[in-house]
Amino acid sequence: MTAKQTWDSHSYQRDTGFVAKYGEDVLSWLKPQSGERILDLGCGDGVLTKQIMSSDALVVGVDASESFVISARASGINAHVVDAHALEFDSEFDAVFSNAALHWMLEPEKVVEGVKRALKPGGRFVAEFGGFGNVAAVTTAMKAVGVQMDGDLSLASPWFFPTVNQYAGILTDHGFRVDDITSFYRPTVLPNGMRSWLQVMRAPFFEQYGTRADEAYEKVEAALIPTLCDNNGQWIADYVRLRFAARLM
Ligand code: BEZ
Repeated sequence: MTAKQTWDSHSYQRDTGFVAKYGEDVLSWLKPQSGERILDLGCGDGVLTKQIMSSDALVVGVDASESFVISARASGINAHVVDAHALEFDSEFDAVFSNAALHWMLEPEKVVEGVKRALKPGGRFVAEFGGFGNVAAVTTAMKAVGVQMDGDLSLASPWFFPTVNQYAGILTDHGFRVDDITSFYRPTVLPNGMRSWLQVMRAPFFEQYGTRADEAYEKVEAALIPTLCDNNGQWIADYVRLRFAARLM
């Protein structure tokens, strides 16, 4: 049993391919230009990175997961395994972009410090990730089952979901001007259901139960049916997004 989140790029694409689809919206905040150097922070398997590249920007993708970086490279992306808390780029990017990744990075000050170092003066930082209250029903159900099954509750919600004020404060403390920042509720259809979402996003919580993992999955699903599953059996997750565009002053 490991408490560490691991990624398999194939199941990620199969069960959560919608992540990149929704991310297309925040690309309209980035507005990549031909010839710009852009860092995609937490590029995953690179589906959105490719879209940025289609604007003829020169894109570097970084991700902590080797499986993702292998997939991204296979699709022609200049991608590298890098811990976002220890970025070593120095004044070389016109923009840093990130979609659905910053909530996995639990020391945001270190991340924003590295983004600041990576940007040229006047460079932009544009991102979308989980905001305060994101997947609250899902994490509450996991914690309730964790109590019932005497588990480690800290495995239920290892994410950083800040409020707008909290994240704007971190940006301004690091010398950014926040041009736009917003948080919004975005109910998100899970095409392959809740079980596969839980398996991709939060396996460590269930793996702690060993041979009783299936029982834990069933209990969490049962607790969520009244709020997140419609009459046709379609699961809809309670996503809250935080989106911002900031500029290094
Ligand atoms: C999200 O994109 O909001 C998210 C992804 C995985 C776990 C939790 C939240």
